[in-house]
Amino acid sequence: MRKIYSVAVDGPSGAGKSTLSKAVAAELGIVYVDTGAIYRTIGYYVFSKNIDPKDAAAVIAVLPQLEIEMRYADDGLQHMYLNGQDVTKEIRLPQISMYASNVSAIPEVRTFLLEMQREMARRSCVIMDGRDIGTVVLPDAEVKIFLTADVEVRAQRRWEELRQRGTERPYKEVLREMEERDFNDSHRAAAPLKQADDAVLVETSVLGFEESKAKMLQVIREKVGI
Ligand code: DC
Repeated sequence: MRKIYSVAVDGPSGAGKSTLSKAVAAELGIVYVDTGAIYRTIGYYVFSKNIDPKDAAAVIAVLPQLEIEMRYADDGLQHMYLNGQDVTKEIRLPQISMYASNVSAIPEVRTFLLEMQREMARRSCVIMDGRDIGTVVLPDAEVKIFLTADVEVRAQRRWEELRQRGTERPYKEVLREMEERDFNDSHRAAAPLKQADDAVLVETSVLGFEESKAKMLQVIREKVGI
């Protein structure tokens, strides 16, 4: 039987974590877990109930009402279910990003989701992306990668992605939101975004998709011995 291993991928928004991790998972035949989607699911619920995502007491009060499930569809894609309803599309609405970022700063929210993430890694080989995977969720992961790029490059990529999905937004606005989210995610007291001491830094500002993917595969193969 193949040994179970985990790959933790952390970094700021727009660094290419999900696209790259998905491709690496497909290449290695392991499971891709997008943990941002779980925070987005809570963000979406809070948004749909008109709750201020910065009001910690109000957010904590609704946690017992939430049943969050992650299921893999036939296409291999991760779908998010909120109280039985598939919210995979809704959680990608642009306004949900800041809701997710705000609720994720609440320690009780993080604790609520911790076990669910660890359980995924106990069950199968995973490549899990987020902000605190290498530092908090899977501190013993065999491989840790910190993926980053200049904020302008990340904003440009996000702008292009939105445009392709039919959402035209001024670049300046996308950049400002990216900077705000970077600040939020790396300055919060609970599990802030930071590179784990034993993580390998992969800077994608000047690397294309294929080069970045090859670099990640090289790091993983070396560390896991596959
Ligand atoms: O990766 P993403 O943009 O979908 O994540 C949405 C927000 O969720 C992000 O701004 C910070 C938060 N998040 C987190 O705090 N910890 C994680 N492991 C993943 C995401």
